[in-house]
Amino acid sequence: MGKAFCPFLLFVFFQAILVLVIPMTTINILAVGDIVGKSGLDILRRRLRGIIRSFHIDFTVVNGENSAGTGLTPANADDIFNAGADVITLGNHAFSKSAIFPYLEECQYILRPQNFAPQSPGRGFGLFETAFGNVLVINLVGRCGMNFGPDNPFFAADLVLSKQKAKFTLVDMHAEATSEKLALCYYLDGRVSAVWGTHTHVQTSDASVFPKGTGYITDLGMTGPARSVLGVVPQQSIDMFLGNPAYRFETASGPAKLEGAVFSIDRETGLCQSAEAIRIIE
Ligand SMILES: [Fe+2]
Ligand SMILES: [Fe+2]
Repeated sequence: MGKAFCPFLLFVFFQAILVLVIPMTTINILAVGDIVGKSGLDILRRRLRGIIRSFHIDFTVVNGENSAGTGLTPANADDIFNAGADVITLGNHAFSKSAIFPYLEECQYILRPQNFAPQSPGRGFGLFETAFGNVLVINLVGRCGMNFGPDNPFFAADLVLSKQKAKFTLVDMHAEATSEKLALCYYLDGRVSAVWGTHTHVQTSDASVFPKGTGYITDLGMTGPARSVLGVVPQQSIDMFLGNPAYRFETASGPAKLEGAVFSIDRETGLCQSAEAIRIIE
């Protein structure tokens, strides 16, 4: 009896050690895919704090570029922060609602792509003090298949990294082309904690840790209407592809989903230990 009991006690003891030690060796980063319309804002408000608790999240970055369909208003940004986001990133629609311009200037916790023209309102990176160390967040926009002519995002990342030092560095690469996002992660592998893609609104199944320790997913997906074409009413998208006269896109109604990824980052090295996509459909 005693011999059988001792291994069990040892097992319990080591399990307790693991529970106590493992959470202290890593921090968990949550990245949430593009918020689309009221549907996206509502599910974020309903579910984000629960996700933060369940996954023991230490820092949350939410892409908010479609909160108002295209772009976002100051009220939308406040909604995202009130839902529990630490930082908002944007993308090609960053400036679609001009009311956000003063907000971008005043609030250091909302970022637009760093490689936009230098006279653009706001900033493209932020260095944030936290209880577990400084977190650098960089927002970039791709050049393949995008409307604008932004600067080279690879060089833009180099420039920021040459001047800003942080233990944890997170990169939102808002881009159309899977190749551009993958290439950026290989380029930054080992130099940043995580790179995630946004913009396509379709979650990819490639969450992983790159060879030199950077966490990655090609696209987080989107947060908004689950039965839609990238957030838009399906019939409107069908009409566009049929060549019917264009009309203003509207955000779809119906059940909502929240998509993103969780990156577990080593507290000492700042490198990623695991990357996992998440999806909640209501
Ligand atoms: Fe988007
Ligand atoms: Fe976009």
